[in-house]
Amino acid sequence: MNRRAIVLISIIAAATAAALAGLPPGSTAQAQAQAQAVDMAGMRRGMELLQGQMALMTPELAERANALSPEIKQFLMQVALKHSRQSDRLTLRQVMHEILADYQAVGAAIAVDNGELAAEAARRIADHRLPRGGMLPYLPIDKVSTQALSVLPAMEEAVEGGARQLAAAAERGDMAAAAQHFGTVTAGCVACHAHFRGQPGVSPRLRAR
Ligand code: HEC
Repeated sequence: MNRRAIVLISIIAAATAAALAGLPPGSTAQAQAQAQAVDMAGMRRGMELLQGQMALMTPELAERANALSPEIKQFLMQVALKHSRQSDRLTLRQVMHEILADYQAVGAAIAVDNGELAAEAARRIADHRLPRGGMLPYLPIDKVSTQALSVLPAMEEAVEGGARQLAAAAERGDMAAAAQHFGTVTAGCVACHAHFRGQPGVSPRLRAR
């Protein structure tokens, strides 16, 4: 964390402590104030994370990122907050290789009734690493728009929500349900690739089909 972020967070923490001191202990008001303070601190942290990502972007990309709707920014902020593993070196492709390894582990584990491995690998997918600069730098630049990115929450829900449900089912030993959630996860991979990626590795040295 950079120094500015640390200073900001400690200012918020100090202000929160001061505000809470005036409220009767254990009161609903105090509980609410505490919850709000956590939200506020979270928001700050999220904003810092997003600003950190934007500081790494070229001016062209940073400008496009800045122009995104508040809802998408909020979503990206939550993604940054939720994922504690963030690399300052790896690319999105490398993160995807890691996700693929976990995805294959899940498939194999379901097939051989190993609920523990399935659950663990599925949670690793849900808590996947974030690449350097977040996701935006790796998308075609025309996809960095409010409209193109508006599908992200649904895809995240399919992959990450599906992976968590899969983990819960696998832990219960319900491999049939786990297999169904595996289908939801897969649909999320497919939809996102169709929307943001297309066929990987297409060669410019072949005649058009
Ligand atoms: C939020 C959108 C999104 C989701 C969801 C997603 N991917 Fe990806 N994936 C991408 C993008 C974008 C690329 C291309 C990255 C690049 O080339 O820089 C990619 C590329 C890949 C690659 C190719 C790496 C290479 O070497 O070219 C693999 C493998 C992959 N994804 C696996 C998965 C799996 C498995 C899932 C589901 C568990 C998944 N992805 C879900 C967006 C997504």
